[in-house]
Amino acid sequence: MENDEFMNRRGFLRLAGLGTTALLTGDLMAGASPGVPCLSGGGFYSGRSGVVSDLELALRAVETNVPLLSGETTRVWSYQGEVLRGDLASLQTIQAQSRRYPTRSASNLSFQAPPRPAPQPYTYLGPIIRARKGQRIRINFTNLLPEATVIHWHGLHVPPEMDAHPRYLVAPGQSYVYEFDVANRAGTYWFHPHPDGRTARQVYNGLAGLFIVSDEEENVAGLPSGSYDIPLIIQDRVIDANNQFVYQTGGMMDNLIGFLGDHILVNGRPDFTLTVFRRPYRLRLLNGSNSRVYKLAWNDGAPLTVIATDGGLLEASAQRSYVMLAPGERVELWADFSDRPTDSLIELRSLEFPGMGTMGGGQPLQNGAPFKVMNVRVIGRRQEKAPLPAKLSSISWHRLDDAINAATPRSFSASMGMMRWLLNGRSFEMNNVAENEIVRLNTTEVWELNNVLGSGMMGGMSMIHPLHIHGLQFQVIERQIASQQAAAWESVRNGYVDEGWKDTVMLMPGERVKLLLRFEDFTGLYVYHCHNLEHEDGGMMRNYLIRA
Ligand code: C2O
Ligand code: CU
Ligand code: CU
Repeated sequence: MENDEFMNRRGFLRLAGLGTTALLTGDLMAGASPGVPCLSGGGFYSGRSGVVSDLELALRAVETNVPLLSGETTRVWSYQGEVLRGDLASLQTIQAQSRRYPTRSASNLSFQAPPRPAPQPYTYLGPIIRARKGQRIRINFTNLLPEATVIHWHGLHVPPEMDAHPRYLVAPGQSYVYEFDVANRAGTYWFHPHPDGRTARQVYNGLAGLFIVSDEEENVAGLPSGSYDIPLIIQDRVIDANNQFVYQTGGMMDNLIGFLGDHILVNGRPDFTLTVFRRPYRLRLLNGSNSRVYKLAWNDGAPLTVIATDGGLLEASAQRSYVMLAPGERVELWADFSDRPTDSLIELRSLEFPGMGTMGGGQPLQNGAPFKVMNVRVIGRRQEKAPLPAKLSSISWHRLDDAINAATPRSFSASMGMMRWLLNGRSFEMNNVAENEIVRLNTTEVWELNNVLGSGMMGGMSMIHPLHIHGLQFQVIERQIASQQAAAWESVRNGYVDEGWKDTVMLMPGERVKLLLRFEDFTGLYVYHCHNLEHEDGGMMRNYLIRA
């Protein structure tokens, strides 16, 4: 897609205010055409250029209540959607198959007797948007929350106006039309709010959904599909005695560390049990937590078979005894339960690792502490076993030879200053870029990210930072660790999956990574930031500008 084409398509930005004027930034208002059909009018429109979207959805952010634990319902914020045009199967609810209310204890398998009639399985998460590569999608978003928000399509290659730079805020009661061509390859992408300073709280309240892209190559691979293709969103929460989510950001240390909850939720449910048949599954894991990093493994030591990362399928599967999954990252597993005995129970666990870096931490369940993530219950008779294809996809990698700065990578350091997390010593500024943050369209670059090792209060402290770059997928081409941190690194490094496209990369304290990226199709202002959402909100985010 040419950038010019997108500039001309500014007219597509329908700011159909519900009766009033949309409160948006000047340049967007200038692009809005007056008198466009109102969203609430219910009609379809094909845009000025006459291009009809293949898929048109309505998406609302609302405040609502869900039955989460026995007793009071839980107040949450949630995305709700409906298909206005296109395949009805493009919108799905996330499987939250708890048929019963779990007890409050997160650690045992006993359940309370189900109330009659059994409550509807329900989750605050979702929906799942399913799109095909090449489709044009239009999402008529309405903000019914009491505060401003903006939706970010994490991992998707979309123009800046669609990418939720925090300056494109949608005020309460207002609407915004996100419209873009699905350019990404098949994979598990996601969407969540992105307002400056409010992202962590909004995600915590429940706002997150999946954006699953399929394509022809994936069809050919013949992976488990339909009800054998299961998204699993992992999050953590603190839940009070009245079943309400508690978001405490009390002390300065809490803000520096980020939010850590002691209840582990999968697909929005505590004590999640996934029931599977004796056959292979495709499991799509997203770490949708604010700050928690998971070191995922089966409790019996069986290896994990990884088939995809943030940006879609690997070329061939990769075996790991455990997988590191930092906030924002996705990993897909091919999990074969055919040789498991009927009625057996397996646990997906998070193993112990040094997760606090040189920070202290008084949280009830620290980053790096071990716990159970979910149960898998195997039922039924052994089914015909479809083998895992040897070749999953073919990837046309960026070439290091094409990089304009291979010898002198553009460098970014994550460090602490004045008790804040910074990128190259700077905090987020809404409209500014530094010289080092301006790149050219159609160039390939090497970026070096460095998680600077601090040495105590005055020398600064250090912890894990999952760094995320908007608007593109990159390759991780090298990792290095400071010698003092070698032992800590040993306990996580075999869980990195750098064999595929990534948009978020985890760095341990003292770790350096080199990335290969290419800036294509769109010019304008994007952000890069730490996906520890409390770090992001605290200013650990910066703009970068792609110039023609
Ligand atoms: Cu998922 Cu800018 O983030
Ligand atoms: Cu993103
Ligand atoms: Cu961080």
